Amino acid sequence: MSSEFERLEASVASVREVSDFKPRVGVVLGSGLGGFAERIDVVANVPYERIAGLSTSTVEGHAGRLLLGHVAGVPIVAMDGRVHLYEGYSPADVVAPVRLLGLLGAKTLILTNAAGGVASALEPGDLMLITDHIATLVPSPLAGPHEPELGSRFSDMSDVYAPRLREIVHEAARGLDIELKEGVYLQMPGPAYETPAEVRMAATLGADAVGMSTAIEAVAAHAMGFEVAGISCITNKAAGLSPTPLSHEEVQSVAARVSTAFAALLANLIARLGASPHPEAQMARLQSPEPS
Ligand code: HPA
Repeated sequence: MSSEFERLEASVASVREVSDFKPRVGVVLGSGLGGFAERIDVVANVPYERIAGLSTSTVEGHAGRLLLGHVAGVPIVAMDGRVHLYEGYSPADVVAPVRLLGLLGAKTLILTNAAGGVASALEPGDLMLITDHIATLVPSPLAGPHEPELGSRFSDMSDVYAPRLREIVHEAARGLDIELKEGVYLQMPGPAYETPAEVRMAATLGADAVGMSTAIEAVAAHAMGFEVAGISCITNKAAGLSPTPLSHEEVQSVAARVSTAFAALLANLIARLGASPHPEAQMARLQSPEPS
């Protein structure tokens, strides 16, 4: 049986057939946030179908391509479109693109998503910096045979969302006069939205927002040694907290309304990361093969 790492080496080789570009920052663009792609000076655009070992997204609003290029002069790689557990993919399939970003050279990872607000302070259209997550309701991407090339198995999870990065995201938001809230993200399995009882459960568990992605990616990325930041666009009040029923269209339309501010925040954050890169020493756990 071939290992996950071998599968990812094949993915790296597919990207390297197109470009030897070495990114420093990886970005995952969530539902309706693909507009950020326009801010990238694209060097290479690689559709997921052309990358060995990657699954393609079946969800509307998720493009399914890897973009390599510069934002504010900083070399980045963006995953425009992610795959989810609820599409029927395995945990390893779902985190393969994030691991690929690391193997391509990215050391800092910015995860974005659309989420439902559980905390009463969160309104549709708000941006929420993820301070911590609850991933207990979804399978771990680290379960199974241990592959040291993909990082530690028994990860310390005290600071998955790096405090240093969180401070930089706040500085970026202040600089742009964007209000940035903070909270704990809980990943639900989906694909149906939660019941009001599940939303009350989420609140009791300490969650401020619920979504169907991100935490599983953050677990894999943190184990690899990535410095991780997560930002949610609150597209709706979670079920039972709003008089109107939820719909994917509402999620997409609120995400689209906020996408200009969100894209500006990401670009400003990346520019700041250019000035204060991730200390290389902390990436010792990530064995990143150099592009040939
Ligand atoms: N629940 C789960 N995922 C979501 C929601 C929600 O209310 N809104 C956007 N993604």
